Amino acid sequence: MANGVHSMNGDCLQESSYIEESSGLNDAISLIFSLREEVGALAKVLRIFEEKEVNLTHIESRPSRLNKDEYEFFINLENKSIPALEEIIRSLREGIGANVHELSREKRKDAVPWFPRSIQELDRFANQILSYGAELDADHPGFKDPVYRARRKEFADIAYNYRHGQPIPRVTYTEEEKRTWGTVFRELKTLYPSHACYEHNHIFPLLEKYCGYQEDNIPQLEDVSVFLKSCTGFRLRPVAGLLSSRDFLAGLAFRVFHSTQYIRHSSRPMYTPEPDVCHELLGHVPLFADPSFAQFSQEIGLASLGAPDEYIEKLATVYWFTVEFGLCKEGNAIKAYGAGLLSSFGELQYCLSEKPTIEPLNLEKTAVQKYLVTEFQPIYYVAESFKDAKQKIRKYASTIPRPFSVRYNPYTERIEVLDNVKQLKNLADAITNDMGLLCNALQKVK
Ligand SMILES: [Fe+2]
Repeated sequence: MANGVHSMNGDCLQESSYIEESSGLNDAISLIFSLREEVGALAKVLRIFEEKEVNLTHIESRPSRLNKDEYEFFINLENKSIPALEEIIRSLREGIGANVHELSREKRKDAVPWFPRSIQELDRFANQILSYGAELDADHPGFKDPVYRARRKEFADIAYNYRHGQPIPRVTYTEEEKRTWGTVFRELKTLYPSHACYEHNHIFPLLEKYCGYQEDNIPQLEDVSVFLKSCTGFRLRPVAGLLSSRDFLAGLAFRVFHSTQYIRHSSRPMYTPEPDVCHELLGHVPLFADPSFAQFSQEIGLASLGAPDEYIEKLATVYWFTVEFGLCKEGNAIKAYGAGLLSSFGELQYCLSEKPTIEPLNLEKTAVQKYLVTEFQPIYYVAESFKDAKQKIRKYASTIPRPFSVRYNPYTERIEVLDNVKQLKNLADAITNDMGLLCNALQKVK
């Protein structure tokens, strides 16, 4: 495989191939062409280049992905070959009948970034964290506490060694950790009935009943993950440190939420400078058990796959103002559904006070809204409903420049790239089946 060319392996993905990165190819023109497998075919091609005095800097061959009677050739030419290129391509096409794809540098700028196609590929992110969870900033409450730092390292190691399909290792939390959890749990619970959205309040008692949500017990990620899976197919995955926005959002496309497992420092139970298990379990988890919210979250993830960098930033901002700091309408009232709000005693009260600006969710505007991570937000966006937010993110996703659409197949736990007739036929078949089922069921309930 040529350096820089990412080819999708696996039977159902054979039709797709994208350029992944530019390393090593900046000073070259690349061509891919396919030829019928016959003696002397390559020699004829090489003669064309020789006649034009063009130097090939790299050549490799592989069986064609599209036609098993053909071979594909990937070649690099020196940049100075550009003047002769048009004629060479014409000779290849007309003289030899080759199918030529030119990968010029301009086109390479539109290259599609790599993204995971199967849920197992999320394992790759474990090695791509931006900071290891045991490294704390100097202003972190636990910075000068060697016991806390050693504990954080234990949690980071669990996540770093975790692989898809394994149960999330259970942790025996210390009495001190449980006390910290207890303080946060008790305080926030007093606000939920009046400040949290219906979905949060609806699911919370189920988490108390089935997942060990109690004042004196920190729930285990594994138990919560199993519960979420039974509700919406969402599952948790421990994370060792900060992921890039691209990687974090990609997880959502598979209904996988990267979750911390450690708890904040006991010296300041009502403050944490980073996500911790209180934030994940009290803020995020209840909402991921709601089907409509789960769909909305997955839509953000699907929109991010293969999106250009500037759109990843926009989607991460949308995520910030919805999944983290979103408000929603409930009749005439406004309630909080964002995890950053539902896990912060101070901001949960502030966000529904007269102080901040509150505007309707409008993705064009929300996606470019500036924000600070260290202070209460000066502005919040209100969703009409999760269904409405989901439709908005779908519409927004259609504006992202990508040469394909994607769909998650929950049976194979793979992303299907809808860029060819075969995939579209599969989708049409699935819709036809569902429509048949719907018509049948409608007749029965009449
Ligand atoms: Fe969060």
